[in-house]
Amino acid sequence: MRIVLVGPPGAGKGTQAVRLAEKLSVPHISTGDLFRANISQQTELGKLAKSYMDAGNLVPDEVTIAMAKDRMEQPDAVGGFLLDGFPRNVSQAEALDQLLQTEGITLDAVLDLEVPEAEVVKRIAGRRICRNDSSHVFHVTYSPPKQEGVCDVCGGELYQRDDDSEETVRKRLEVYHTQTEPIIDYYKSQGLVRTISALGPVDEVTERALDALKREK
Ligand code: AP5
Ligand code: ZN
Repeated sequence: MRIVLVGPPGAGKGTQAVRLAEKLSVPHISTGDLFRANISQQTELGKLAKSYMDAGNLVPDEVTIAMAKDRMEQPDAVGGFLLDGFPRNVSQAEALDQLLQTEGITLDAVLDLEVPEAEVVKRIAGRRICRNDSSHVFHVTYSPPKQEGVCDVCGGELYQRDDDSEETVRKRLEVYHTQTEPIIDYYKSQGLVRTISALGPVDEVTERALDALKREK
């Protein structure tokens, strides 16, 4: 299956993507995680991305699209993928469509995670991620690690993302409303959007997501 996950910052896209990718046997491709890996490896791309991410802005389309394309062309993504955080504006969605068209493939669904803003703010405030792999995500209250400050998956150190400060989160939410939300209408016109509530326990949201992908397909 080829799926796009969309939803505001802190909606639980990464949390759900890890679970859904495993259930659907497709790779989880997160442009946010790819940028963060570049930042920790101190690559040129990482240095560029960090300046945008710390301000809560989108990294320029040109580099983002090239990075996403490169990842989607890896052998493990040939049979399908779950995109998390990409596309993030209409020009990225158009670029993705073009790329898929060249390959003669199409998206199966766009899963839209709905969460009220007050909840998103609570989720982000308590989020802790792993230094070794930013897809290892915890929450101090909602999904605490077994040992405080230590990743359950790999034993890495947990920390708070640089862009999770109150001011940057406000900016990221604004960018989501102005630049990312329009892709929901773009995909609605293609009949691809399945909207679910992302409130409630993580496992329940996963079940809801799997039902939505099955039911309306
Ligand atoms: P990115 O990393 O994609 O961040 P985001 O979209 O802002 O989303 P988040 O990672 O904040 O949240 P999430 O929805 O994944 O929630 P999570 O599962 O962690 O992007 C970061 C930056 O990179 C962007 O601002 C931009 O600069 C750049 N970028 C990335 N892609 C780009 C693109 N395509 N173009 C340009 N720039 C790009 O969950 C949040 C917390 O809630 C966690 O603590 C979790 O444990 C908890 N939680 C999850 N589910 C539940 C639940 N059901 N109940 C209770 N708690 C829960
Ligand atoms: Zn880890």
